[in-house]
Amino acid sequence: MKFYDREKELNYLKTYCQLEPNSILFVYGPKSSGKSTVMRRVIKELENSNIVFFYYNLRKYATPTRDEFLRVFFEKSDKKYLLNKLELNLGVCKFGIEENFDFNNLCLNDVFAKINESINAVVEEGKKPVLIIDELQKLKNIYFNGGKSLLNELFNLFVSLTKMEHLCHVICLTSDTLFIDEIYRNSTLKNASEYYLIDWLRKGTIRNILKEEGFSEEEINYALDYLSLPYEISQLINNKKLGLSVEQTIKQWINVEKDGLKYLIDTTDLDEEGLYNVLSKFKDKIKISYDKEVKKEEMKYLKFLIENEILFYDVINGIIKPTSIIEWHAIKEIINAMQ
Ligand SMILES: Nc1ncnc2c1ncn2[C@@H]1O[C@H](COP(=O)(O)OP(=O)(O)O)[C@@H](O)[C@H]1O
Ligand SMILES: [Mg+2]
Repeated sequence: MKFYDREKELNYLKTYCQLEPNSILFVYGPKSSGKSTVMRRVIKELENSNIVFFYYNLRKYATPTRDEFLRVFFEKSDKKYLLNKLELNLGVCKFGIEENFDFNNLCLNDVFAKINESINAVVEEGKKPVLIIDELQKLKNIYFNGGKSLLNELFNLFVSLTKMEHLCHVICLTSDTLFIDEIYRNSTLKNASEYYLIDWLRKGTIRNILKEEGFSEEEINYALDYLSLPYEISQLINNKKLGLSVEQTIKQWINVEKDGLKYLIDTTDLDEEGLYNVLSKFKDKIKISYDKEVKKEEMKYLKFLIENEILFYDVINGIIKPTSIIEWHAIKEIINAMQ
């Protein structure tokens, strides 16, 4: 697969990994904006540095259980850390744990002691550990002995590893913006976390890529009103090879999103008028300001649309917008059909 641009994001994240750890970094952005792809690229580009990446991707787990969490994060070995076989082509590591360790009778303190040991082992070898967890919000409903929430306790550990001890970077990725909202308001993380947005591709970037890929000026000008996500470009290129015009492809995408949105509205118990009113805010503009344009009673509709990835809520910048420009067009067609 080709990798497009993201110069600025790559530079930011590569530099970040090499600075002294001082806070937890949350990388967020609309679904499919390319967060995971950029992060993996950063790891690849730094593979010959003295950084040891502990990298865990929870994407493929619907909702991991406590046992799955332990198996994903730890591996029995006489080493303190070892290659993560789930991510062989990335050359990243996972935490090692003694052969005779009893996973069944483990309490959270034991888990954290093991993480600390692995990280310290890296530091003692003169290398820099960086811990990356992709789709962190999936650890939300895991509880340990005494009903302790894994995620809340992990945040305490992360603060200690970064802000207090400056031992290890902790980078968490998520597409779940309501989760980012929770984090933003979490008191443990106040003054201990930073946020980095990986957003849509910029128009100028898309123009350059399409030009390089041999699209005509006319095709480019048409496409620029609709494209925002990197995978859309790859798909547009493939579809062109398959004989579909730019216009046909884009119309299909909008239809798919429109049907999805209509289905969502038709099958929810939420009041239809309320939903349409909220969607109508995007009739003439692509983004709205949360504090200026959202009333309290509208929040439940917005939340529903955000949870279902129709809208993207950027809590840091206080704006709400569709998850992609294609989605925006789908929303507009739905509102127009109403009138
Ligand atoms: N910079 C890029 N160049 C080319 N394709 C990309 C790029 N970023 C993402 N993609 C593609 O877009 C899709 C979604 O990317 P992904 O990183 O999984 O998004 P996210 O993690 O933000 O949800 C993937 O198929 C990926 O290959
Ligand atoms: Mg991802």
